[in-house]
Parts: sequence; C-alpha cells; structure tokens
Amino acid sequence: MPQNKQATAARLTRRSAILGLAGTALAGATLRSPPGARADFNLELEPPLRSRTRASGIRYGCAGAAPIVQPDRILLEKFAIEANIFSPEGALKWIQTEPLPGKFDFAEGDSIAAFAARNDMLMHGHTLVWYTANPDWVANLRTGQAAQAALERHINVEVSHYRRKIWAWDVVNEAIEPDDRLAEDYRDSVWLRCLGAGYIDLAFRLTRAVDPQVPLCLSEYGIEYVGPKPRRRRAALLALLRKLREQNTPVDCLSLQSHLEAHQTFDRAELTGFLREVVKLGYHLMITELDVNDCRIGGSPDQRDRATARHLAEYLDIVFAVAKPLSIATWGLSDRSTWLRQYWKRADGSPLRPLPLDADLKRKPMWAVLARYLAGQERQPT
Ligand code: XIL
Repeated sequence: MPQNKQATAARLTRRSAILGLAGTALAGATLRSPPGARADFNLELEPPLRSRTRASGIRYGCAGAAPIVQPDRILLEKFAIEANIFSPEGALKWIQTEPLPGKFDFAEGDSIAAFAARNDMLMHGHTLVWYTANPDWVANLRTGQAAQAALERHINVEVSHYRRKIWAWDVVNEAIEPDDRLAEDYRDSVWLRCLGAGYIDLAFRLTRAVDPQVPLCLSEYGIEYVGPKPRRRRAALLALLRKLREQNTPVDCLSLQSHLEAHQTFDRAELTGFLREVVKLGYHLMITELDVNDCRIGGSPDQRDRATARHLAEYLDIVFAVAKPLSIATWGLSDRSTWLRQYWKRADGSPLRPLPLDADLKRKPMWAVLARYLAGQERQPT
C-alpha cells in the first residue's frame, strides 16, 4: 500500500475504533415507501426516534437552549424523549463561554451536560472556533501572537472542562465563504486575518492535544444544491479537506450542517461526487444542523409538511448512498422554536414549519422520514 494510503487506513481504523462505528459505504438502490404514504398511520403511537437508533448506531440529536435558560419545560422533556444527543444551540459559543479574556462561564454548557447525563444523552460540542458569536475582545484581536494566545487558552480550558462529556467537537465552524472573495474561498474572520489559513490546523491540533479521544469535526453548510455558489463551496471545502489530510491535521469528521431549503434542487450528481471524495479521504460524516426551510414553497401546512419530508428523504437518500452518517441532528425539535423564524418570513405570513414536530409537538411526516433513516433502513440493492 502506498504510504499515504496506509496512513489513511490506519487513521480510519483508529478513528472507527474510537467512534465504535465504521462509516459504511452503501451500494446504490431505491427507497421503500414514500414519506407520509399511509394516512391512517398514527405517528404518535410510534416509539421515539432515539429508540430507532439502537440497531443502526446512528444517533439522533437536537439543538436547543440550555436547560437553565429554557422556560419551555415541555419542549425540553420532548428532547429527552426523542433524542440521544443534545446540541448546544448557543451555550458553547465563545461569546457565552469566555465573554472576557480568561473569564470562563460554563453555567449553560454544564446544565446541558447534566441534563444529557441524567437522560442518557450525549452532548455535541458546538463550537470552538467561528467567525461570529465572538465577544468584542476576540473580534478586536489584531496580531497573530494575541490571536494564538487567545485560541490556545480558550481551547485548553474549554476542551479540558468538557473532556469525556462531549461526544464530538465542531472545532472549526464555517471556514468557507466564496462571497468574501479571498484566496481559496476562505471566509474572512478575525482568525484568518491574524493567523492566516493555518488557524484551522492550529485549532484542531490544540484540541487533539487536550483530548486525544474525542472525534473532531469541521462544520460547513451550503453545499447541497445546483448553482454556481454551492458548486464553488463544494470545491473550496473539498480542497480544504484535502489540504488538512496532507498536513496530517487531526480531523475525523465533516459536519454537514444541512440547513435545507425545500424550494431548491439538489445537485445529486455533484453532491454524491463530493461526498464520495470526502469519504475516500477518510472522513466520517455527521448531519449536525438539519432543518428544511419552507419559506418559499406554496400550499397548506399539510402540503408543505409533505413537501419538506420528501425533500429530506431525497437528501438522506443521497447521503446514505455514499456513507451512513454517525448521527443526524436537527437544529431544534419543534416548529415552535426555530432560529429560522428570526431570519425568514413567508409571504403569506404563516409561520415556518422546518422541524420534525409541529408547534403543538405533534410528529410530522418529516419525523417519519427521520425514523426510517435513523433505523438504518438502507436502500435495497435493485
Ligand atoms: C444560530 C442559532 O440557532 C441562533 O439562535 C443564533 O442567533 C445564531 O446562530 N450555523 C451554525 C449555528 O453553525 O451555530 C447557527 O446557530 C445556525 C447556522
């Protein structure tokens, strides 16, 4: 075996052992039944999503507010019923965890860790290094030395604090942005300005040094659809992932944020090709921030729910045909609380319905699609 292939194989075996899973490649085939096909089928009587994941090993996560700042106790209870991963929606962002230099505040994150432990859930580490949600003192860093010192302290303290409590870290979030018109389509950020593109490698190495076991992920969005921009994002992300492999940067996973938009068209061929390359490079896949934006599709709530479920099935079909993700997490659980409502308004004024439960916490067709894929119902070879 050529040396680099040997290294990749060894890394994969090591990582697979750590994760307790193999990123199984699946042969192409067809879906069983269309989502929502059985109108008489009562989803409420079905066992929760987390129970589906036992056989397949694919975990189900939800992002949400930390229990100490979550007034909606019923929603919180639903998290524990449906999910076996809790993703902090904001609790681990820098502005929250280190608002002033060296003054750490883990109250919110710790309340998630405690809730997760009580309810036999894992906790996702989102996120250590991002271009936004930083306190002013970070946004105003100006030199490489100061930025490196800040990064080192932040990662050392936070990753040690959560060692053995976090099942995977999104170490670097959203490193690509073609609209910023910078070399290699890297996103403009305080980190890029102070440290150059090497900040990505540095962040991963720092994290790995503190926790040799935890899987480390690069997280990205905007790669699913047809069009010049997603194409450019896929190319830039793949180039970055290749470079990180060549540099032997300790990255285990690609976190596919998967903020889907029901009015868009998947670039099935290119997305498949992209994912195949990513898996070939030895990366595992996780789906970490799934929602299906229904802002720009017409129809009644029922029709929209069926359309978002179909859209999701199409997406999961593409991903699963390449490799089973280690987990699927939705960015929220119920339509009563979704970040999208801050940014998107439907022309008809009706509220968005992007998540698996509706605003009354009733399971939607999207829930049924998740149940099917989480059970690992792989496509059958034709
Ligand atoms: C979002 C939160 O959901 C919002 O509440 C907050 O106002 C902004 O950030 N990609 C990410 C997440 O990686 O951290 C973002 O979360 C959504 C997009």
